[in-house]
Amino acid sequence: MKLGVIGLGHVGLVTAVCFAEKGFEVIGMDKDKKRIQNLMNKKLPFYEPGLSELLEKNFNRLKFTDSIKEIIENVDVVFLCVGTPPLPDGSADLSQVEDASREIAKNLNKYLLIVEKSTVPVKTAEWIKKVMSLYVKKDIPFEVASNPEFLREGSAIKDFLEPDRIVVGIESDKAKNIFEEIYKDFKAPIIFTDIETAEIIKHASNAFLATKISFINMIADLCERTGADVIKVAEAMGFDKRIGREFLNAGIGYGGSCFPKDVKAFYRIGEELGLDFSLLKCVDKINEERVNKFIEKIKKILWIIRDKVFAVWGLSFKPGTDDVREAPSLKIVRKIIEEGGICRVYDPYAMENFKREFGESERIYYAEDIYDACRNAHAILILTEWNEFKKADFSKIKEMMETAIIVDGRNCLNMEKICKLEFIYIPTGRKGCGY
Ligand code: UGA
Repeated sequence: MKLGVIGLGHVGLVTAVCFAEKGFEVIGMDKDKKRIQNLMNKKLPFYEPGLSELLEKNFNRLKFTDSIKEIIENVDVVFLCVGTPPLPDGSADLSQVEDASREIAKNLNKYLLIVEKSTVPVKTAEWIKKVMSLYVKKDIPFEVASNPEFLREGSAIKDFLEPDRIVVGIESDKAKNIFEEIYKDFKAPIIFTDIETAEIIKHASNAFLATKISFINMIADLCERTGADVIKVAEAMGFDKRIGREFLNAGIGYGGSCFPKDVKAFYRIGEELGLDFSLLKCVDKINEERVNKFIEKIKKILWIIRDKVFAVWGLSFKPGTDDVREAPSLKIVRKIIEEGGICRVYDPYAMENFKREFGESERIYYAEDIYDACRNAHAILILTEWNEFKKADFSKIKEMMETAIIVDGRNCLNMEKICKLEFIYIPTGRKGCGY
């Protein structure tokens, strides 16, 4: 069986490379000619741990093209991994899905199984079928299925190859057999459902995880007001198997290309169907507020931001990726600059993407390393919990700073060690030291 992947972003490219790793011949297609050219030269468009090595290893089973015709003529199953970005009202922009469906239909010459892998609103498969029927030549059979992807950036390969579960929405035994063949070497349970259920499972999972994060952030605020410790609260709650410890890390909120967009889109779906999805509106609001709360903390200690120098550690929306989409760093740096502060920013992988996304400003200095970022700084702001930050030489850093203040937006430092060095240390949702 030959597999095709349309849309070679994070999900698409990992899907293509991982299926090749499982022994399939895979053709990856993207409209971006430069991306295809780079992939043909084994150059990846983003950083993902281990992906480069896996691409190299399986290169003989992978083909890359910008031609929809080539992919449709040569594969038995095609995974749709195109982007579904948000529209101004929060709902998902499905124009790339429509475009791909139309192009597939026009080039169809034998049975094809078209599989949604991108996160899409419920009923998208129905639309794909409708659009396909409009453009497909008579009597050529096709089917649509939903097989949502649950991989995370930064641990994408492991998440793909060793998933907790595989969800498949199908409408026929033929499609079921195809998926059984595709996933025969995976150990995870396969949950077969109808297509709408599969579509909802993906949105519901992301919305639930985002809810966990906003919930613990709400509790973090309560802990700060009362002198309690959110890490202990999360730990103790997490021991309850019904709750679980994961995704209960308080901080400056969730970012990335999925949670912010999916929570808003899922809320819109509920609203459009006349349902009360206001819970998700609160989840989103709590998340949006995290940035202001973080800035307030800085002001509580430094009073005025104007002309203060900030060492900003971490720009990506989380460690293990160079992705800055919806990263809290963008908003925090912007606010500081607007108030007249200076940011000396550093990230091990995301500097280029941040530069591109943020644009130029004479108030930003792109530092060589964490130490360079701290020169004459009034405070270190930790926005991403990269491992190298935890291992820094804080005695050396203290000497370099104007005032030894650390605001830890990710609770990633060893508080005892930092407090011994007499820093003013302000974590999230727990009492720090020196203030
Ligand atoms: C998320 C989901 O976890 C994946 O299962 C899903 O496949 C993916 O979206 C998607 O829809 O494509 P991802 O956005 O890569 O994956 O990253 P996560 O690890 O989920 O983190 C999202 C954000 O939540 C990050 O900004 C992270 O810092 C934040 N977070 C996470 C917290 O603030 N606290 C936590 O306890 C966990």
